[in-house]
Amino acid sequence: MTEKTKYDVCLVGLGYVGLTLATALADAGFNVLGVEKRQEIVELTNAGKPHFSEMGLDQMLLDVTQSGRLVARVDFPKDSYSDIYILSVGTPLGPDGKARLDFMEAAARSVAENMQDDALVILRSTVKIGTARQVVKPILDASQKAYQIAMCPERTLEGRAMQELRILPQIIGADDVATRERAEQFFYKLTNSTVKVSSLEAAEVVKLVDNTFRDIQFGFANEVARICDAVGVNAMEVIQGGKLGYARTDVALPGLVGGPCLEKDPHILSQSCVDYGLDLDMTHAARRVNERQPYETVEFIVAEYTRRNPRRDPVIAVLGIAFKGIPATDDLRGAMSLRVLEALDQQLPGAKVRLYDPVCTERDLLGVRPNDEVVSTLESAVIDADIAIIANNHPELAELRPKQMVRLMADRGFIYDYWNSFSDLRSHELGGTYFAVGNSRKIKQG
Ligand SMILES: NC(=O)c1ccc[n+]([C@@H]2O[C@H](COP(=O)([O-])OP(=O)(O)OC[C@H]3O[C@@H](n4cnc5c(N)ncnc54)[C@H](O)[C@@H]3O)[C@@H](O)[C@H]2O)c1
Repeated sequence: MTEKTKYDVCLVGLGYVGLTLATALADAGFNVLGVEKRQEIVELTNAGKPHFSEMGLDQMLLDVTQSGRLVARVDFPKDSYSDIYILSVGTPLGPDGKARLDFMEAAARSVAENMQDDALVILRSTVKIGTARQVVKPILDASQKAYQIAMCPERTLEGRAMQELRILPQIIGADDVATRERAEQFFYKLTNSTVKVSSLEAAEVVKLVDNTFRDIQFGFANEVARICDAVGVNAMEVIQGGKLGYARTDVALPGLVGGPCLEKDPHILSQSCVDYGLDLDMTHAARRVNERQPYETVEFIVAEYTRRNPRRDPVIAVLGIAFKGIPATDDLRGAMSLRVLEALDQQLPGAKVRLYDPVCTERDLLGVRPNDEVVSTLESAVIDADIAIIANNHPELAELRPKQMVRLMADRGFIYDYWNSFSDLRSHELGGTYFAVGNSRKIKQG
């Protein structure tokens, strides 16, 4: 009988999380197998090419694939096994708004089949509370093999993952000391810093709380923006002024809140809590503020456009479509710019829309907005536009100052900025042509 090939680590799912981690682990010296069901990702990975944009990933992936320390396959190669398995499949919300478990179940089944006694299985995805114990564990138990299980959630920021994998404290949750120590020894090859928590559930909750906390902070900042718009004061002046020399108040800045994590993780937390008889308040409220913002602000944009007595359907330039601009990414999942565009479609159905993004490709953009025009420079996006919307905070979008931008735009054109990139400028530099979230309404007269 031929000997089985042994990998140090196997990752199931080579998306953003799986591919960055697999590459970092291979770079740290592990012999890594990536199992990914999408053939095109497997081919790109084996050719040393990332299937998304991530700073620092290109060269490292090329190195580790060329040296053979990372290989990708569509299925587990027969006659191979791993010491450690990491489940990094997606956990999106389904069409019913509920967290999907089917990817995690399928991944667990394939690991149960492939593993040998003494495997360590690590959940890396963000999961509903109880998934490790109630969903993954029964599948692994059915194999009747001996194994250990830990929950070690991914916490990196897209755009900074390759750095952060080496410096962020790694959360390690497992029910027993031996499993925690084994998982810790493994992660010590990547980072000096680990935080051990005493159960699988504690680690699941840590991850969901981290992201929900951010969502609530941004939700409150957007609430402040709503207040300032209603009262007719500038939210940036209020927020920055309020915290200057006064550390007790540290309100975040308003803006579009989305992306692949924040759009779903607070929902996953609140759905988890329903199983424990708990109905969350702040978590829902923040999501409501953040999800309503695109529609509410587009109402203002339409009112302002109408107030300017337009003579034609508008040309609208939407600038920065990826879900964030700092750190830069091409990720369009959960991008709230798409909700802004949806609201514009509804409220200005005759509009001609131009898209510009410094990072996303034309193919990416047409994939989500097939009927819009995609342009390749900031200038060409705004020329003759009636409305320019700054939808993410990529620094390149601030290269054209509002006065320069308006000069290129149509007569009576105006700018709406979701990121307040220019709110610090004095009003004579902005004229009556620049509006931003939390800086866009006058006090009602009479
Ligand atoms: N994107 C982030 O920056 C980030 C950060 C922290 C945590 N997370 C969490 O990590 C998880 C993964 O996120 P992602 O952005 O990498 O998702 P993703 O959808 O980009 O990647 C998941 C990959 O798994 C593959 N896959 C699914 N089922 C499979 C199976 N049974 N066998 C093999 N491959 C399979 C899919 O084809 C896909 O390529 C999610 O739970 C997410 O919430 C993401």
